Amino acid sequence: MGRMAGKVALVTGAASGIGRACALALAREGAWVFAADVDLDGLAEACALAEALQRMEPARLDVTSEAEWAGVVAEVERRAGALHALVNNAGLCIGAPLLETTTEVWRRQQAVNLDGVFFGVRAALPLLARAGGASIVNVSSVAGLTGVPGLSAYCATKGGVRLFTKAVALECAAARNGVRVNSVHPGAIETPIWAKMQNDGRLDPGSNSTEALMAGTRQVAAEATPLGFPGAPQDIAEGVLYLCSDAARFVTGAELVIDGGVTAA
Ligand code: NAI
Repeated sequence: MGRMAGKVALVTGAASGIGRACALALAREGAWVFAADVDLDGLAEACALAEALQRMEPARLDVTSEAEWAGVVAEVERRAGALHALVNNAGLCIGAPLLETTTEVWRRQQAVNLDGVFFGVRAALPLLARAGGASIVNVSSVAGLTGVPGLSAYCATKGGVRLFTKAVALECAAARNGVRVNSVHPGAIETPIWAKMQNDGRLDPGSNSTEALMAGTRQVAAEATPLGFPGAPQDIAEGVLYLCSDAARFVTGAELVIDGGVTAA
């Protein structure tokens, strides 16, 4: 029997990269997965990959919208009757030196990476607390543990996710509501976020420069990673799966670093 058999999970940013790998991993282990994103084409692709698995279905959700969060949580409750795992993974990274960081770019990253996590946890917590054992995993970054030049706005959001996670973990523990809350801190993981990072947070799939940007970043990431290669989305999904499963029943308020050794130095 799968490690998530009989459980219901909601994963944000599930159309691409790490979120897609997490949604597929949870579905593979038997969860009924609601895969949420603003990118409906990407979601359709992800759900097609899961066709042979257990249940996985798309849910349109802009994590910056409180109203959309309320709608998706209500839909999960109506359809599945419970929620056991919430993976707040949707994120955006826009690189710029501080003096070139516009207020709009600062706010866009705050809105998705930090407001989105707050809205999600607040909206889903009552349903999670009724599950009799549930898990929230917030995807932060190594940039939420150490400063990265050129990513100050992004670091601010990811550092916020780290401590928000710990505070909510303690509130849930004190409430004895059975909800564990942890953060995951990926190092360099090969996903489209690398090309978006250098293109105002957006992907331009038709552009020849996308592969060039990916290749350039791949090399930089390999050089900066002690293990000598960038990670794959599945490397993060394995950690998220563990934290969502009952195997992690004594783990809360923790930060799981999966970074090829970057923060060991
Ligand atoms: P990605 O760009 O491949 O996927 C991000 C997904 O989030 C996309 O499907 C996108 O449509 C979705 N998204 C963006 N804004 C949204 C919104 N307002 N509402 C709903 N969905 C939205 O990126 P990746 O790499 O898979 O990133 C996932 C998470 O991992 C992010 O939080 C990122 O900051 C974090 N991370 C990634 C690292 C990497 O090297 N790839 C390293 C450390 C952290």
